[in-house]
Parts: sequence; C-alpha cells; structure tokens
Amino acid sequence: MSPLIELDDVRRTFTVRARTGRFRRERREVTAVDGLTFTIDAGQCVGYIGPNGAGKSTTVKMLTGILVPTGGRLRVAGVDPARDRVHLARRIGVVFGQRTTLWWDLPLRDSYELARRIYRIPDARYRANLDRCVELLDLGGLLDTPVRQLSLGQRMRGDLAAALLHDPRVLYLDEPTIGLDVVSKARVRQFLREVNTAEGTTVLLTTHDLTDIEQLCDRVMVIDHGRVVHDGDLDGLHATGESERTLVVDLAVPAPPIEVPGARTVKVDGPRQWLAFPSRDSAAPIVAAIAARYPLADLSVREPAIEDVIARMYAGASIG
Ligand SMILES: Nc1ncnc2c1ncn2[C@@H]1O[C@H](COP(=O)(O)OP(=O)(O)O)[C@@H](O)[C@H]1O
Ligand SMILES: [Mg+2]
Repeated sequence: MSPLIELDDVRRTFTVRARTGRFRRERREVTAVDGLTFTIDAGQCVGYIGPNGAGKSTTVKMLTGILVPTGGRLRVAGVDPARDRVHLARRIGVVFGQRTTLWWDLPLRDSYELARRIYRIPDARYRANLDRCVELLDLGGLLDTPVRQLSLGQRMRGDLAAALLHDPRVLYLDEPTIGLDVVSKARVRQFLREVNTAEGTTVLLTTHDLTDIEQLCDRVMVIDHGRVVHDGDLDGLHATGESERTLVVDLAVPAPPIEVPGARTVKVDGPRQWLAFPSRDSAAPIVAAIAARYPLADLSVREPAIEDVIARMYAGASIG
C-alpha cells in the first residue's frame, strides 16, 4: 500500500519586498520550506513541531492545496493538492487554531448544514457523524448559539466537528490547542485520540504543547528552517535533546534549596522551588522523596518548551 501523504523534495519560497531606506525597497527571497521529503502512512498520528517560522504552517497549506509548492512533488490520498483541490477537499479536514472556518454570525448548526451541502454528505451519514461529534465534543447545548458568542474552547470544538462531518481520511491541525484552558485542551486531545484510533483518521498535528504530542502522537517530526531535523518517537527526541521537565514545588514555608536524588534545584523564590529532571524519568519518585522530607503544599510538572528541546538537540549534535 502506498503512503497516504508523500512529499518529495518539496520547496516553497516567498518573495518579500522589504524597505531598505526611505524610498528604497528590495526584493528578497524567503525560503519557508527547503526540501522536505517524507511519507505518512494511513492511520498515523504525527506531531509536526518546530520553532516559530520553521515552515510548519506553510507545509500544512501546501498539503491543503492553499499554497502551491515552488519545487518538488506532493501527493495526498493520491491527489496533487494544488492541482485538484476539489477532489482533495473531500478527503481532508483542516483546523487552524488561529482562525475559524465557521460562519461568525450564524449558529453552529448552520455552518454544519453548509458543510453537508458543500460536501454532499448523505443524510444518514451526516446525522450519524453530527451526533457522534455532538456527543464526544459536548456540543449539544451550543448548536443554536452564534459562533461569535462561543468561548475559544467551544469554538475549537465546533471547528473540529466541522472538519470531520464529511469523514475525511486526513485531518490537519495547526495549533488546535493554542490559547485553550487545561480542561478544553484535555477534551480536544481525548476527541482526537478517538478520531485517530476508532476511525483510523490520519492526523498531522502542529503544536507548541509537547503534552499534545506525548498524549497523541506515535511519531514526531521536528522542522527547523524548512527542513526535517528529527523524525522518530518522542522518547527519541527527548533523548537526543536530553530535554528536562520541571517540577514546580510549593512548600508550606520557605526553605533552603531542596536536595533529592534524580533532580536538581534550579531556582528558589520564597516557598516556591523549581527542580529540573530528565524528561524520560518519572516524576513520582522525586515527588515522593520531597514529600517525605519537606512540608509540601502543592506541585506541578512543566513540560519543556519545544524551543528548548530543539536548542538542546543542536547543542548535543555539535558536541557528539
Ligand atoms: N505569505 C507569506 N509571505 C512571505 N513570507 C511568508 C509567508 N508565509 C510564511 N512566510 C515566511 O515563511 C517562513 C515560515 O513560516 P510558517 O510556515 O508560517 O512558519 P511556522 O508555521 O512554522 O511558524 C517564515 O519566515 C515566514 O515569515
Ligand atoms: Mg504556524
């Protein structure tokens, strides 16, 4: 079986006109995507991460047919996205976290009704898919609310449903959890897991939240300067990047820097202390050791920022 998504040396440059003086403008080429070659098999859930400006959104736009590559070859579900957007549209669903595909002034229900007509979704299938989305995303009470009155989390759930009503084989998500609160994030993740495992929908997920990747993706690709710099599982990324998680500990009273095996205290601010430990290690024994010896009031674990993981990856590569 051939892969569902195939990129062969895909490039995209932009010509930008930059002001160089009061009346002078200079044309400059920006390379957003610089020779991407990879494949994604049906049913995979792939995390697509990297620093700002790495070329992630440009990739998603090319996979969606919104942008035409300036070089290379691209196929999604047997179709050249830019050449055959109409056929592609039936096979893909897209969610951009920064921007909604829903009709701002209309109730959610009307946007879904429009999708039904645009994609000519058969009645029974439409009803079944809508019922499932409404249940899993808890949209029941929101269907008659105009989109502009929805909270960000509610709107995102509404967008997810809209992207899936026509049973796409691939779902692209560009920062779907950006700006969401913890509860909404958890609900979105749970839904995506369901869509990927139960429906077998292939998922390409761009995010700045490594927890999204950890909980959803069996494969993670790191993009930097328009190129793939890592392709493997998340453990592999943590290992290469020697990344660290942070345990934020609130003690009942201020204390000298905590000393426990497996972690080092990197910052103290009154009763709050920050302890770094390797991402691949469990936080449990460290927490137990602290709880046994210090008056613990509260704690939380912070995932490393993607920028840090990538910076460490380069640092590691240049030494080794
Ligand atoms: N329409 C555009 N015109 C000019 N430059 C662009 C355009 N879109 C993206 N770029 C540039 O391409 C690079 C990659 O952008 P993008 O794909 O949005 O990155 P990411 O989504 O990883 O943050 C950036 O340098 C960005 O400024
Ligand atoms: Mg982007």
